[in-house]
Amino acid sequence: MKLTLEEARKALKRAEKVAVLTGAGISAESGIPIFRGKDGLWQKHEIEKVATLTGFLADPDYAWKFHSELMKIISKAKPNRAHYVLAEMEPHFPEFHVITQNVDNLHQEAGSKNVIELHGNIWRVKCLEEEKIYPVKKEELEKFNTHCPKCGGLLKPDVVFFGEPLPKDALGKALTVSAEADVMFVVGTSAVVQPAASLPFITKENRGLIFEFNPETTALTKFADFSLKEPATKGLDLFWKEF
Ligand code: OAD
Repeated sequence: MKLTLEEARKALKRAEKVAVLTGAGISAESGIPIFRGKDGLWQKHEIEKVATLTGFLADPDYAWKFHSELMKIISKAKPNRAHYVLAEMEPHFPEFHVITQNVDNLHQEAGSKNVIELHGNIWRVKCLEEEKIYPVKKEELEKFNTHCPKCGGLLKPDVVFFGEPLPKDALGKALTVSAEADVMFVVGTSAVVQPAASLPFITKENRGLIFEFNPETTALTKFADFSLKEPATKGLDLFWKEF
């Protein structure tokens, strides 16, 4: 049996540890395309060529074209009401963490402090020669070069490609936070990419509740204790307004 909105709010009032898992859907209303579904990025772009290390190394210019287009779109995006609601919620709980699969930095821009980036951040690049990470400034995007200004080595976006391991610290923290959460909000993710997709199940196995916010039914919906089938901005705003 699913919880009603009132019951879900009551359960959240009792919660001390809250986790949030977000995916591309939370940034959709900020103008950033999602990956799956009919207009998703993976309909128009080949994952193997643009989001695997083998594809990237085989034709870095091709893969960089995809990533720099995405950087341009993200550079114009602003956090939306859903990002802001999560930032507003944070100080109300002894522990509150946002675990995100997104690389767009919008949670931090909205003011969330405890953000765990599972898939990296588009505003960082890694020099494959020196193995060093460098920031990329939005304002300098026009001048951006895909080779390291220091050593000339090829730069790779500091985002996790398919087949690459997730950053160890981020994954470790996400596993702990998920296991300890009294409530986990799952917002705007199709919940199919591992290991992120397993995190809500870790919460549930440890007797935490799953609250899903997604306009569509997902792989997780039938396991969610509460689900609000609305876009993230409307759903989170409605939930939090009366809290
Ligand atoms: P997906 O594109 O797989 O799923 C986006 C989800 O957002 C879908 O379930 C949509 O129904 C939902 N959605 C769309 N609009 C929404 C809105 N306004 N409010 C709330 N939800 C909305 O994106 P992710 O689940 O984030 O990984 O994908 C996971 C990973 O797969 C990404 O991090 C990326 C991708 O390939 C890597 O690149 C490693």
